[in-house]
Amino acid sequence: MKTVKIGLLGLGTVGGGTVDIINNTKHEIQRRLGQNIEIAIIAMRDLNRSRSADTAGIQLTDNTAEVVNHPDVDIVVELMGGTGLAKELIETAIQNGKHVVTANKALIAEHGNSLFALAQKHNVIVNYEAAVAGGIPVIKAVREGLAANKIEWLAGIINGTGNYILTEMKEPGADFSKVLKVAQELGYAEADPTFDVEGIDAAHKLTILASIAFGIELQFDKVYTEGISKISADDIRFAEQLGYEIKHLGMASRLENGYSLRVHPAMVPKTVLMANVSGVMNAVMAYGDHVGPTMYYGPGAGAGPTASSVVADVIDVIRWKDQPQADRVPALGFAADQLQSAPVVSIEEIETSYYIRCFVEDHAGVLVKITTILADSNINIEHLYQEPSTQKPSDATLVMITNKVKESELNLALSALSQLKEMDAEIMRIRIETLG
Ligand code: NAP
Ligand code: HSE
Repeated sequence: MKTVKIGLLGLGTVGGGTVDIINNTKHEIQRRLGQNIEIAIIAMRDLNRSRSADTAGIQLTDNTAEVVNHPDVDIVVELMGGTGLAKELIETAIQNGKHVVTANKALIAEHGNSLFALAQKHNVIVNYEAAVAGGIPVIKAVREGLAANKIEWLAGIINGTGNYILTEMKEPGADFSKVLKVAQELGYAEADPTFDVEGIDAAHKLTILASIAFGIELQFDKVYTEGISKISADDIRFAEQLGYEIKHLGMASRLENGYSLRVHPAMVPKTVLMANVSGVMNAVMAYGDHVGPTMYYGPGAGAGPTASSVVADVIDVIRWKDQPQADRVPALGFAADQLQSAPVVSIEEIETSYYIRCFVEDHAGVLVKITTILADSNINIEHLYQEPSTQKPSDATLVMITNKVKESELNLALSALSQLKEMDAEIMRIRIETLG
């Protein structure tokens, strides 16, 4: 039986998980493929650190170049992360005629356009299923499974760490930094966890999803990105009282004048499936013109789930590598010369309802000033709730839900509100998304 040799860059959370699957699932993989997969070499930074993965019989090195230049390696699996060295190594691997599998969403979102072009030139495959939503095969589902559809929009919880934090923050007394630390210990977080907390990781994933859904070039720098670090325990409590869950969503939609690409916290009605996606679980909804709404759910991070997608990609490469390039699935699901460089519409153009939370001095006349400013901007308050501030006895916490309003108009009203001398601290605004 033929054996395909793999070179692994990285033996961390996902690298270790990949070695475990290849070691423990050999027989099942052979049955699927009719071929063997063998790891020939693994590169890591620190050769002396003890690892749980069994690497007996595998060459270990701290010289990454050895992996991409290894004469026996057919497929390079990049699980190091980062956009510097990882990019150089993948480029070398491609130039050496090696196929590539990566879980590196930052690299695909920021440099995928040039990497896919290079791969096409050298007739090799670059697969990246694990880059989005960990163990959910969402790239395959949207790129191939929905190929008969014009996809109108997609939305999802696409960062496991962020969803884990928001879920744990519902527990009384939960502390943001302690919860983040647990997520790191569980192997969910990025090397720099601000990527998770500030929405950068979700923006990388949304960039990729939007490209495979709409057939547009990867445009990471155009994604509107807001993280979860400003969400307070009070916001989570108020959302709960009002019948919502706060979720960190990535959303992409096709509009008349371009595409909307955005990542931000959103209040989602508890009755919507997405509101019930908790902990490290991710979910992606995609709406196709023929199929209607579809939804994909599963673990979004962690060793086993992510490595499951990595190994599936390796199996796919082995099945397709000897086929003519024209018969393979294009990297972004559309023929490379058909990818559009479409305009991305400003967040100021979106129209939605908003949750507004502010701290104001608690005396007569303040509420009138606030409602007058909102009324002057044609913003209707559909719900208003007030309670004494827990932080300053002379203040009140005011919570409002508005009608649907254009973001640019809301911004003008919030700017006027923030000028009021009775307004204490920054005003919090969370978009409300019904995902219908
Ligand atoms: P990790 O645990 O930090 O592992 C990174 C590995 O790469 C380590 O083994 C490290 O070596 C090695 N490495 C890093 N820089 C290196 C260098 N300059 N030279 C040689 N080796 C180097 O990271 P991870 O969580 O597995 O993530 C890997 C990739 O998968 C990232 O792109 C990440 O975004 C992506 N991803 C992760 C998850 C997840 O749940 N963790 C899910 C989806 C995608 P040492 O071990 O010696 O330090
Ligand atoms: N840090 C990422 C997350 C890993 O938490 O979702 C999976 O891509």
